[in-house]
Amino acid sequence: MDSIASEIKRLRDDLNRHNHKYYVENSPEISDREFDEMMKRLEALEREHPEYDDPLSPTRRVGSDITKGFEQTRHIYPMLSLGNTYSIEEVDEWVKRTETALPGLTAEIVGEMKFDGTGISLIYEHGRLVRAVTRGDGEKGDVVTDNVMTIRSIPLVLNGDDWPERFEIRGEIVLPWKAFDRLNEERERNEEPLFANPRNAAAGTLKMQNSAVVASRGLDAYFYYLLGENLPYDTHYDNMMAARRWGFKVSDAMTLLHDIADVDRYISHWDTARKELPVATDGLVFKINSLRQQLNLGFTAKSPRWAIAYKFAAERALTRLRFVSFDVGRLGYITPVANLEPVLLSGTIVKRASLHNEDIMRALDIHDNDMLYVEKGGEIIPKITGVDTDARQPDAEPVRFVSHCPVCGTPLVRFEGEAAWMCPNHYGCAPQLIGRIEHFVSRRMMNIDGIGDETAAALYAAGLARTPADLYDLRADQLMMLAGFGHRSAERAIEGLEASRNVTFDRVLFALSIPFVGETTARKIARAAGSIDRLASMNRIELTGIEDVGEKIADSIIEYFANQSNRDNIERLRAAGVQLEMTTENDEGRTDLLAGKSFVISGIFSRHSRDEYKKLIELNGGKNVSSISKKTDYVLAGENMGPAKLEKANSLGIAIIDENQFLEMIGQ
Ligand code: IVH
Repeated sequence: MDSIASEIKRLRDDLNRHNHKYYVENSPEISDREFDEMMKRLEALEREHPEYDDPLSPTRRVGSDITKGFEQTRHIYPMLSLGNTYSIEEVDEWVKRTETALPGLTAEIVGEMKFDGTGISLIYEHGRLVRAVTRGDGEKGDVVTDNVMTIRSIPLVLNGDDWPERFEIRGEIVLPWKAFDRLNEERERNEEPLFANPRNAAAGTLKMQNSAVVASRGLDAYFYYLLGENLPYDTHYDNMMAARRWGFKVSDAMTLLHDIADVDRYISHWDTARKELPVATDGLVFKINSLRQQLNLGFTAKSPRWAIAYKFAAERALTRLRFVSFDVGRLGYITPVANLEPVLLSGTIVKRASLHNEDIMRALDIHDNDMLYVEKGGEIIPKITGVDTDARQPDAEPVRFVSHCPVCGTPLVRFEGEAAWMCPNHYGCAPQLIGRIEHFVSRRMMNIDGIGDETAAALYAAGLARTPADLYDLRADQLMMLAGFGHRSAERAIEGLEASRNVTFDRVLFALSIPFVGETTARKIARAAGSIDRLASMNRIELTGIEDVGEKIADSIIEYFANQSNRDNIERLRAAGVQLEMTTENDEGRTDLLAGKSFVISGIFSRHSRDEYKKLIELNGGKNVSSISKKTDYVLAGENMGPAKLEKANSLGIAIIDENQFLEMIGQ
């Protein structure tokens, strides 16, 4: 093997090992930085030496943007479900039943967590991952190998050499609580629908078309079932411990149990201890350890007789509805909220629970004064799951959805295909105006220190701010008239406003509250358009040409700029010095407007220096070359361009542009 090949191999082995240390064992040996450097080195070598390509190289874990539908495949062994129960007695009975079915033997049992994610089947051949398939209908599933490869805790190439030549391993893909919270926080900011629980989030993520997005979400996977012809051991437990050595994440909670008393202790321990786990679990699974005994017990049509799931009861409370209120969001959407008699649920007091929209409210058929069941969906967001109809008063009326905005009285509208009613009085309805100011000043947007939600509402109430642009006219003495403001806090708010003039255009665009333009979309639009003026002039075709912008978003942008008060607001923000175009100082301005084009720069310029033009070319995806050739696309010419260059450009028919034309090309 030549030295390049051996370096590539060594880097791949090392990176795989460090990956495992970090994502499976939780005990990294090297710093993130050292890891990144090794990864960069490997990426560079692979780029230079495509002959050593390996589709399972650790560099392939980042995913790609290629979108394609999923191919379906038939499972080698059907993916069955588990019989389940909520009762400890029934688990005990199952133990006794299996023992009677195995005359003369006492069964050894493996206790494990029932992970609440989405099932996955992985096929390995010669120690390498060849395919990942979802459960699907149990018979056939979707091939999601590219997405699964982005999950860092899943080994692409196995350790050791005692694995069967070909085997299947099953497990659960989960989204850890932390990643789930992060994802929902982001979705909330972008006004995207929240995931109800980590299971839905994991399943949704796994089926995404863009594996690069999958890679960013932080999925994890636990394994609990090995299948194949030549398994190394004849017990489930030993096989799982072998799988752990090969590199799979097998939960530390997996334990050998010897009798019913052990089983009961396991249940009572994990009933509470599970709450400390980093991932969601919805129960425990008990399996007969011996594979021979498993074979003897066999399967029913739906599930194995050698296993049973014990499900934890969801924490639920019953409380009385006081009234339903209707919140108006910054974009005018109306959310019904159940206001409840306070009740304790999994350690917190619940007083309000969203009813989401009219359809959900109707499906629950809520009446005045009803007794409602509240559950912590995914254990964080309280959710109304039902009504105790027996407790309903005979004369109770169904709760009706409002037909007019509860704040400004405007008749509500509901667009086709949307679940939510909306107050269309966007420029006159107080909670919408206040909501947009709150959104504008908040941390992810303009990050205006010293002005928070309460101040936004107080400024509105005092008649000092109706739009974000009004904020920039504020004086310290006006702020000091607000409750809670003193000299110093007023100064701080003014400084915060001052500092917000440095916020980059992509965040400003997000801060403007254009319907459907969330954080990520705003960034892409800002980069593609380059400036607010360019964006305002773009038509539907140009807009939908931007990545992630569909017709709904395009129409929303067009409608936004068609509105005079929005345009006034923007002009006043411009006058206040807020950034309305991408600048070159930060990478934020990166576009591919000049992709594939090469430039020669010549002469002296007045609007930017030569170096700045070089940077602008690269920032917009173009290439700088030093001398003119057939392959040159443009000569960017300033004053006093040399006559020889001019002649050469002319003779080759190369376009000569001046700095104004160039800046126009990149939308500046
Ligand atoms: S064993 C033939 N073990 O629960 C039985 N399943 O309701 C194979 N699950 O589809 C499954 N944790 O997605 C098994 N420790 C565990 C599990 C587990 C979660 C899921 C799995 C399965 C479903 C069955």
